[in-house]
Amino acid sequence: MKDMVLVINGPNLNMLGQREPGIYGDRKLEDINDELRELAGELNIEVEFFQSNHEGALVDRIQAAIDDAAVIIINAGAFTHYSIAIHDALRAVNIPVIEVHLSNIYQREEFRHNSMISPAARGGIFGFGFLSYKLAILAAREIINGGID
Ligand code: DQA
Repeated sequence: MKDMVLVINGPNLNMLGQREPGIYGDRKLEDINDELRELAGELNIEVEFFQSNHEGALVDRIQAAIDDAAVIIINAGAFTHYSIAIHDALRAVNIPVIEVHLSNIYQREEFRHNSMISPAARGGIFGFGFLSYKLAILAAREIINGGID
């Protein structure tokens, strides 16, 4: 379905809940996804989820989004900072992209200050923990409904 919002999570985000909770919070990825599914239901939009620790699998899913997604929300994890392949895939599919991070990457180590996703994104939300994803769902709804161009 072409007005589906695809939420993609990259490496190590499957470990949320046990991974550095002081930085990433104590919610598991499944808990976040459940909340997003509920929010999407309230907003009357379709949502699907994909997580992988593998760059090629992420590229494959982004490419497949040509056929099924209206908006891509992506937290590329560490690939954010150096994956030209993910950057290129996002550009290639020409679907609006919303970049998400749980943490404020600009307040952290310098190697996190560069994003390969941002130049390929319509916009981004970072630093609000799991709420970053919820805000991204709201932005995706506006993109789908033509509220923002
Ligand atoms: C992250 C920030 C990245 O620097 C890190 O590698 C992650 C998570 C975040 O959501 O804050 O895996 O994308």
